[in-house]
Amino acid sequence: MDTQRRPLIGGNWKMHGDGDEAISLANSLADARSVAELVVFPPFVHLGVVTDVLADSEVMVGAQDVSPHESGAHTGQTSARMLLDCGCTWTLVGHSERRHELGENDSLCAAKVTRALQEGLNVMLCVGETLEEREAGNAHQVVQDQLLESLKGCSSLDPGRLALAYEPVWAIGTGLTATPEDAQDMHQALRKTLSGRYDASSATGCRILYGGSVKPANAAALLTCPDIDGALVGGASLSADSFLAIASAAESWTSS
Ligand code: 13P
Repeated sequence: MDTQRRPLIGGNWKMHGDGDEAISLANSLADARSVAELVVFPPFVHLGVVTDVLADSEVMVGAQDVSPHESGAHTGQTSARMLLDCGCTWTLVGHSERRHELGENDSLCAAKVTRALQEGLNVMLCVGETLEEREAGNAHQVVQDQLLESLKGCSSLDPGRLALAYEPVWAIGTGLTATPEDAQDMHQALRKTLSGRYDASSATGCRILYGGSVKPANAAALLTCPDIDGALVGGASLSADSFLAIASAAESWTSS
């Protein structure tokens, strides 16, 4: 992590928990104070209650997905404007579970990124390679292609509004984590790609988070890497204690 970028820690609650559990988890985060920015991504049906609980807190709320459409006859979809209206400030785009389970491709991700940014939502764009792609030596190419294709509609990059999450698919929910060296290597390459596509100062300002089995025990080793600016946490974000312990790992590094 570089001290010129404020760390960002995201909690992706995925499809876990009922309404009471979402309220209780949000309540346990409501008083959190951190050097890092904190954002949680609850299931859609709990967004209303979670944004209510966290309204006066420092914890931001985001959606796990957003429609590429402005409004209209799009059954089951949720527009950026609806999310903003409900108190969200962020959305994930291109999470690997959506790419792989629902067949979302880069051009759909690009449409979502463009729409969300246009409407005023901040975007956390997720990229990552599968195990087969890594073993074939293609990880960098795959991830770079995902990045450039998904940003196709963005002619400029506002680092305050767009963050990246590098989440190797083989590390998600498996207990396997990329080594800090491999993760740093990929983050540095992503930043270089951003610099080539945009400019050095936007690339330097853009937060690139690591995701994939991040836990309190491995967070510090990852967050000390110069190009790792935070974490996108799945399983460990379902407990306030472990989520905040990961945020404190960012804190101890930033203040050291
Ligand atoms: P886990 O932390 O459960 O591996 O999930 C990572 C993830 O997919 C966050 O978006």
